[in-house]
Amino acid sequence: MTSGVVGRSVLVKVPATSANLGPGFDTLGLALSLYDELEVTATDEPGVSVEVTGVGAGQVPTDGSNLVVQAVAAAFASVDVPLPGLRLRARNAIPHGRGLGSSAAAIVSGIMAAKGLLEGTVELDSAALLALATEMEGHPDNVAPALFGGLTIAWMNSHGPSHKRLLVHRGVSPVVFVPESTLSTKLARSLQPASVPHEDATFNVSRSALLVAALVQSPELLLAATEDRLHQSYRASAMPETDALIRMLRDAGLAAVVSGAGPSLLVLGSDPAQRLFAAELVREHAVSAWRPLMLAVDLKGATVVPHPVENSDFLGI
Ligand code: HSE
Repeated sequence: MTSGVVGRSVLVKVPATSANLGPGFDTLGLALSLYDELEVTATDEPGVSVEVTGVGAGQVPTDGSNLVVQAVAAAFASVDVPLPGLRLRARNAIPHGRGLGSSAAAIVSGIMAAKGLLEGTVELDSAALLALATEMEGHPDNVAPALFGGLTIAWMNSHGPSHKRLLVHRGVSPVVFVPESTLSTKLARSLQPASVPHEDATFNVSRSALLVAALVQSPELLLAATEDRLHQSYRASAMPETDALIRMLRDAGLAAVVSGAGPSLLVLGSDPAQRLFAAELVREHAVSAWRPLMLAVDLKGATVVPHPVENSDFLGI
């Protein structure tokens, strides 16, 4: 059954994502205009070849243990189609280990590549894509916006993940500050207690409900709406400068939060001028080097298009 896919080639583009957004732990996520791009060709030679340029070049595995390859394989296995040989060429821009959804992007890239290669043979619908990606990532808050774009609310049912995609108010102006240091999500998660006081849970329920309203219709509420008691304070010891900068920015009236599991920080400006103000404050107060990324909200999410093999030296989409 692989014969239908051999010789096919697809181009995939997947956005960075910022999860949690303060109070929405493991639930809210925002797609951002910074992309990993991937070309995948199904070949009749068994095995894989992986070429990476940009972020992760020379660092990420280039054999079958590569996360993108594993995601392609998981997607083929989910529909019982034998995996063909694979040739991958990735051009990555999403920083690794910084809380910008690079592992979600790798997983979603692989799954979308499989969707494209299998087009016309078997369909992978939105629910199947989200279920596969969530199973590999462990939680749905990065993979949902990476797949569908915009602001997503993701939640788990007894049968798996679901999501609701929302459009963000045009005033909302994200800026991400990326440090040199990295932090593993596993370590960040290990710092959290198994249970929290009821009062803190109530605090976060109110803020995350408010945050959806602030992001969709009332950006002036973003500062109040991004307060959190579920994860950031527990993880602060693993990213002290992130914590100090967030406190400073919030004291100045800016809606600053840890991006995902950190250590990058995200400021959700209520208008574009707030981004410049945030950048100025970070430049003034930071001890180490922080790279500001003024990004737009990505509206499309992951895309996959067929790619003629003859033009395979082209990777810009
Ligand atoms: N919600 C996740 C966390 C996002 O904060 O651990 C990072 O993968």
